[in-house]
Amino acid sequence: MLATDPDVTTPLHQGSTMPPVVHLRNGGTSLVVDLTAHPNPAIVHWGADLGDASERTLESLAVAARLQRVSGGLDATARLTVAPTDAGGWLGTPPLEGHRNGASTSALLTLNGIEHDGAAVLMHLVDDENALTLDVRLSVGSAGLVRAGVTLTNTGMTEYTVQTLQAMLPVPWDSTEILDTTGRHLRERTSQRHTMTFGSYVRESRRGRPGADATLLLAAGRPGFGFEHGQVHAVHLAWSGNQRVLAERGTTGEVFLGGGELFGPGEVTLAPGERLAAPELIGSWGDGLNELAGRFHDEWRARPQHPRRPRPITLNTWEAVYFDHSLARLTALADAGARLGVERFVLDDGWFRHRRDDTAGLGDWYVDDGVWPQGLHPLTDHVTGLGMEFGLWFEPEMVNPDSDLARAHPDWLLRGRETLPPSARQQQVLNLAHPDAYDYLFTRISAILTEYPISYIKWDHNRDLVDAGSGPNGARRVHAHTLAVYRLIDALKAAHPGLEIESCASGGARVDLGILDRTDRIWVSDCLDPVERLENQRYTGLVVPPEMMGMHLTTPHVHSTERTVPLTMSGAVALFGHFGIEWDVSALSDADAATVADWVALAKYVRPVVATGRVVNVDVADPGLDVRGVVSADQSTAFFTISQTQTLISSPTGRIRLPGLVDGHEYRLRVITPGGVVTEPAQSPLEWAHHDTVLTGRQLGAVGVRPPVQHPQQSVVVALTRV
Ligand code: DGJ
Repeated sequence: MLATDPDVTTPLHQGSTMPPVVHLRNGGTSLVVDLTAHPNPAIVHWGADLGDASERTLESLAVAARLQRVSGGLDATARLTVAPTDAGGWLGTPPLEGHRNGASTSALLTLNGIEHDGAAVLMHLVDDENALTLDVRLSVGSAGLVRAGVTLTNTGMTEYTVQTLQAMLPVPWDSTEILDTTGRHLRERTSQRHTMTFGSYVRESRRGRPGADATLLLAAGRPGFGFEHGQVHAVHLAWSGNQRVLAERGTTGEVFLGGGELFGPGEVTLAPGERLAAPELIGSWGDGLNELAGRFHDEWRARPQHPRRPRPITLNTWEAVYFDHSLARLTALADAGARLGVERFVLDDGWFRHRRDDTAGLGDWYVDDGVWPQGLHPLTDHVTGLGMEFGLWFEPEMVNPDSDLARAHPDWLLRGRETLPPSARQQQVLNLAHPDAYDYLFTRISAILTEYPISYIKWDHNRDLVDAGSGPNGARRVHAHTLAVYRLIDALKAAHPGLEIESCASGGARVDLGILDRTDRIWVSDCLDPVERLENQRYTGLVVPPEMMGMHLTTPHVHSTERTVPLTMSGAVALFGHFGIEWDVSALSDADAATVADWVALAKYVRPVVATGRVVNVDVADPGLDVRGVVSADQSTAFFTISQTQTLISSPTGRIRLPGLVDGHEYRLRVITPGGVVTEPAQSPLEWAHHDTVLTGRQLGAVGVRPPVQHPQQSVVVALTRV
């Protein structure tokens, strides 16, 4: 369970007596909680494994974290605990705020009992005067990922309106540099860094989805931390609706990362006895971002529902045909794809009633019988006859005002006023919390999935939610709508076992572990330009395992940027993910078809390592050079790409390291780029590529090799195999 309802009732070992300190250890991470802190427990360490520390030293660690009284402050300086509030003197951002019809805003939560084992602790906090309980659950997973879940219960006799409910995790005081991501459509997850000064740094999403500009994670570390080294901690909020993450540095020596859902006024009110679970705040740390990312990947892969079979090579029709749907054109595309080695054919937008362009039809989830007089059967039969799986595009939450659905059920549209909210791509949003709207979607999607052999849905979401009310003067609905989306996905998956779902939102505007806990792949970006994708994929990969990231080889004449990028780079940049093609490959020259087929074959060759190995981003000195790789779990094999985005000042340039292998083992280096080493004709050969070059893991990681001299927008793929 995640995000919507952290399983706070998981039976943990009930300690016979309450220990003063709880030490959670797992996967190389320690989390130490001082249960004696006032007014409720405090985390006194999150990070490096402290080993098998004695109770005495752990208690001393807790004592050593206590605050002194200082001039100008309260008589006891309030500290960051798991639930600090202003009634306890806390003057920073609180994790809990709310009221009872405008009254009783002062909560003071004290510890009433705990349940714990070596890797998790559940703390029951109560405020009898205010009739609230807060269950705080902290756990450390098998790869050292920390999960913080808070669940609020209204134990009173009147309604309690929740304004803020969030978790907060302290980070080391010397974490003075922040890293997060921002962006826009076609350029999601662009990194940004700055100094963490005193005060709060807050990133909010009010788009009803995280958004293209959302930060996937908020990291704080020692200045200059990189991918390979430097202490860094980060949090991610597993939630697909409105949200806030923050980093705060206070003048009483407390620094923390936190996050929770962002509620509209009056959006969430708890009836007597009702409870609300905040989305999980997931924390990771590492000596460098690669280690931090590895914890996310390992724990995500350990989930029972993780897609484990080899990720099928996908051909998506969008940039191949857009709305130009015809059986002849699509079967020709499928034929070409099958010849190239494609394993899954995904029919994108444009197949349903009234959908001849993007102005109409959303909501009318019936196959358009003008375009498809025999339904999709001739196409699905053709595709499956070629041995490929069939996937289909939906945008369930959306509706065009020009649709039968909107005309029949105007009351199903989210709106806060008589007039509809501003439109985006000529569309509005359905209120999935409306039971009839929900039932309609489940029934229609299920009917299509039942009629056709569809094993995959590309689930799109192409606009932000604004003024998202249940109707004129109605209640805010983003929270309820987000939960309903989760319910709908879960119900469709339960009703259609084996169904895989890709989460897409104008590209990568809904990338979060809430949606990814119930889907199988993220569409990283609508920008298929490999040069642009390098940064996006690198930072998306800090949280999302590579095999869950959709990466497509595309035409050299890139649609979204009009840049011309050779196939070599397009193939290489798509290699370390869920590989696909998005291009009209029915019109390829023989030479291009052979090259694409080689890339498909290479993608199949590397995918077992991509899906189970460790991602290695290399810190390099040249801004125009990008070096990244995947290393198999047993460290016997690795693949690296060396991509050049621009000319380098130094030519040839200095050696690059290929880290992540076993120091004492020997590895043979081979260039395996389809088409061989591409260098400028004026260059002499790259010597190591033409020798039987064998180096130790230590030599590769500490010294390295000369990269080939390449033109801009070229890549090579290197294989390292243990001798
Ligand atoms: C936005 C998606 O990101 C694209 O890949 C494509 O599916 C279009 N929507 C279709 O409308």
